[in-house]
Amino acid sequence: MTSKHDVSVLFVCLGNICRSPLGEGVLAHRLDQEGLSDRVRVDSAGTGAWHEGEPPDPRSIDVATRHGITLRGRARLVRVGDFQEFDYVFAMDGSNLRDLRYLESESDGGAALSLFRAFDPHQDGDLDVPDPYYGGPDGFDLMFEMVDRTCAAFVEHLLSELST
Ligand code: 4NP
Repeated sequence: MTSKHDVSVLFVCLGNICRSPLGEGVLAHRLDQEGLSDRVRVDSAGTGAWHEGEPPDPRSIDVATRHGITLRGRARLVRVGDFQEFDYVFAMDGSNLRDLRYLESESDGGAALSLFRAFDPHQDGDLDVPDPYYGGPDGFDLMFEMVDRTCAAFVEHLLSELST
């Protein structure tokens, strides 16, 4: 990898306005708390282009703000080059993973592509972060809980990776 960071992580969902910006913001916040911000680069993208250039959905901004987290960035489309640029590419659900597998097949990148919730310590058989876009506000709280506990577990994983 060519960047100054040791590790890089890309969150990917469909629109890049609800789930993946939250993943990006929560992970960045937890890394900041661990003093790892300079060592780990975090970004997010979408498999669909409908919201390109837009800020995160106000409902994601709201749930993040209630937990003291600021969401940054504008929606962008995931690209083939992301598989070269990032070490971890996280799909928020199975449909995102299928789309990303296709894109990965067009690349010769070395990113580790997986479902984000593969790192969730509370697994119940379904590893999707459900799409909250068309649901009520409860969906955003549930999403926050899932994303936050999975980020906590992933930070533990990174801590051991960075110490070896
Ligand atoms: P996200 O949510 O993939 O978590 O950003 C969605 C945002 C927009 C749409 C679908 C899901 N949409 O259909 O526009």
